[in-house]
Amino acid sequence: MALVTNDTSGLMRADLLSGVSRETSLIPSRRLFFLEAENPMTYIIAVSNQKGGVGKTTTAVNLSSCLASLNRKTLLVDMDPQGNATSGLGIDKRILAFTIYDLLLDNSLPVDNVILNPVQNNLFLLPSNIQLIGAEIDLLNLPGKEYRLKNLLHNIHRDFEFIIIDSPPSLGILTINILSAASYLLIPVQCEYYALEGLSLFMETMKRVKSSFNRNLQLLGLLVTMFDSRTNLSRQVTDDVKKHFGNFVFNTLILRNVRLSEAPSFGKPIILYDKNSTGAHFYMQLAEEIISKLQPNVSLDNITNNSPSVDIQPLSQEEASLDKENENGVGAGA
Ligand SMILES: Nc1ncnc2c1ncn2[C@@H]1O[C@H](COP(=O)(O)OP(=O)(O)O)[C@@H](O)[C@H]1O
Ligand SMILES: [Mg+2]
Repeated sequence: MALVTNDTSGLMRADLLSGVSRETSLIPSRRLFFLEAENPMTYIIAVSNQKGGVGKTTTAVNLSSCLASLNRKTLLVDMDPQGNATSGLGIDKRILAFTIYDLLLDNSLPVDNVILNPVQNNLFLLPSNIQLIGAEIDLLNLPGKEYRLKNLLHNIHRDFEFIIIDSPPSLGILTINILSAASYLLIPVQCEYYALEGLSLFMETMKRVKSSFNRNLQLLGLLVTMFDSRTNLSRQVTDDVKKHFGNFVFNTLILRNVRLSEAPSFGKPIILYDKNSTGAHFYMQLAEEIISKLQPNVSLDNITNNSPSVDIQPLSQEEASLDKENENGVGAGA
């Protein structure tokens, strides 16, 4: 069955890019393709916040890519009908024959027909496009409508060490599916005036979802995004988030970096677009922080040394000067 209707984008079947030779490709692809990697433990992390524009997709794409570069087999699941995570990995959303929508609606569709391996070793994608908007209605009539994603991931989770889910900016049935399927929740918080206001509503919803649908859901952490060291507001918001959520706030802070906003238009995660940028530096730091949080016994030195494609650089001049400004209290304030 064709994966794409018109394969002119350089898009390839996952099994063709994973080192499986064409001679052996008659064997059902998924079992062969993942044969070496049955992971005893899979971490399913929902990147979620009902607000739009807070850095969910930027975080989901770049965290997935950084984990993959640290030799963690990672699946990025695009659960947003906007499909920004999909296009952010260079996939033309208009030519997909199947998306996550088809998998959610049709239990019998093989995941192999949908999964892609577009830009990087160890990084796989369940893509989405605008069709997924119909799921908000179509799912309502199906049995187990809150658990469709959970059941889907249950069948494939052993093939991956990390599954990262990008969420839509809403609290509908798609988000309930995400929170039902995830074991951990990562909440990006943008440094802006109303950050905390939306957050308390979201935390309330999370508590309700946890008690109704997923008692295992844990808060992995809040990630401060788009921090601008020239403004007092960024510092105030960060202090407030830390005051309310204490140790749940990641040590890693994601600063504003124009390269992060450029990378999606080139269809690349930041470490492939500009590995020396501050954006690449901070998302690698986040990936390492998450690994040490979830796998405290694993030495990060070993992982980093094995990294095939990423060479983490010291802070760039831009970052160093932003830090300097921050220390000196330079900035226009809110
Ligand atoms: N750290 C950052 N620095 C600069 N731009 C960013 C950063 N994080 C996100 N952006 C930009 O902000 C916008 C919203 O981010 P996005 O990840 O799409 O948010 P969401 O998925 O929550 O709607 C996008 O244009 C993105 O490129
Ligand atoms: Mg998004």
